Amino acid sequence: MEVNRSMQTGKAKIVRMTEDNLDMDALREAGRILRSGGLVAFPTETVYGLGGNALDPEASRKIYAAKGRPSDNPLIVHIADLEHLFPLVREFPEKARRLAERYWPGPLTMIFQKTDLVPYETTGGLDTVAVRFPDNAIAREMIRQGGGYVAAPSANTSGRPSPTLASHVEEDLGSRIDMIIDGGQVNIGLESTIVDFSEGHPVILRPGFLNQEMLENVIGEVTVDPGIMSENIHVRPKAPGMRYKHYAPKADLAIVEGQPEAVFSKIRELTEKRLSEGFRVGIICTEESRDRYTEGDIRCIGSRADDRTIAHHLYEILRDFDADGVDYIYTESFETPRMGQAIMNRLIKAAGHEVIQA
Ligand code: TXA
Ligand code: MG
Repeated sequence: MEVNRSMQTGKAKIVRMTEDNLDMDALREAGRILRSGGLVAFPTETVYGLGGNALDPEASRKIYAAKGRPSDNPLIVHIADLEHLFPLVREFPEKARRLAERYWPGPLTMIFQKTDLVPYETTGGLDTVAVRFPDNAIAREMIRQGGGYVAAPSANTSGRPSPTLASHVEEDLGSRIDMIIDGGQVNIGLESTIVDFSEGHPVILRPGFLNQEMLENVIGEVTVDPGIMSENIHVRPKAPGMRYKHYAPKADLAIVEGQPEAVFSKIRELTEKRLSEGFRVGIICTEESRDRYTEGDIRCIGSRADDRTIAHHLYEILRDFDADGVDYIYTESFETPRMGQAIMNRLIKAAGHEVIQA
């Protein structure tokens, strides 16, 4: 095996494939890289992940170094067979089993008490482990080839929006990792829903494509960690990664809330003011409100009629604004029924809690 897998060794090898046309040679090579302690970025249905062998403390250290991520922020262990869960966890509660039956493989991460098999380097020193069984054929085959246990945070530089395209990964990590598997644009565009079972009662630590109602339909009452939706920065979320200013674009992002007409005119007013001061301004609107704006760099994020389209484009738009050198971004607020909680959770953090009442 090649030994020179330290950081700064050049450029990651990029391979392309689709879920219905797997390149098995490339996946076997990815597996060899993972088993020898290297790093491979790969597509999942939520966002791209930066994978390393979850049972190898050295690989976990490399993941933190490549992302520039604080090492007390735990990684999610990805598996590709339910059988692979059992060696990782001390117990598998009945409700967790029912969620796994219904939503795995899928955009669901569950947290349990860990066994000694899982190194503390992977869990950021915690006695619990987060496990996810992704529903992306490329991811699943890569995990199997890599030995079954892949630790993977989102494949972005710490603090930047999560990657929804392989080009985002290349931009952030291209010179720091061994391989990037390009599987095209991801489906969902926001990270998995995290449910904590480690203290008995199930608690949502991070909202995602699977919302509270969809979980409760299967297992009854699920509570939401009060830290995650709060606009009050003093309420601490339980998931360490939810505490940092995160998903942040370079521009100053503010969310404008209120009645639709008031929001439109407030955004127009703020935009005019910043333009007159010589700044570049980005606006995030929807198909429904597109014609309410005339000035600034106007981006339509999706349709309120199907909020999955909004989730799908959020990180991509934030990255595009960065590339365009925008100074200020004003966005409408998206308290939509289906994915509103997940979208607003990410937006509030990206905005560093800056919410303007119209
Ligand atoms: O959709 C996803 O989950 C993506 C893809 C690649 O699978 N992964 C992802 O990983 O979003 P990451 O590392 O960017 O976010 C993991 C979150 C962090 O907020 C972390 O603090 C939390 O999960 N987390 C992980 N293990 C935990 C644990 N044992 N207890 C509490 N929070 C945990
Ligand atoms: Mg992340």
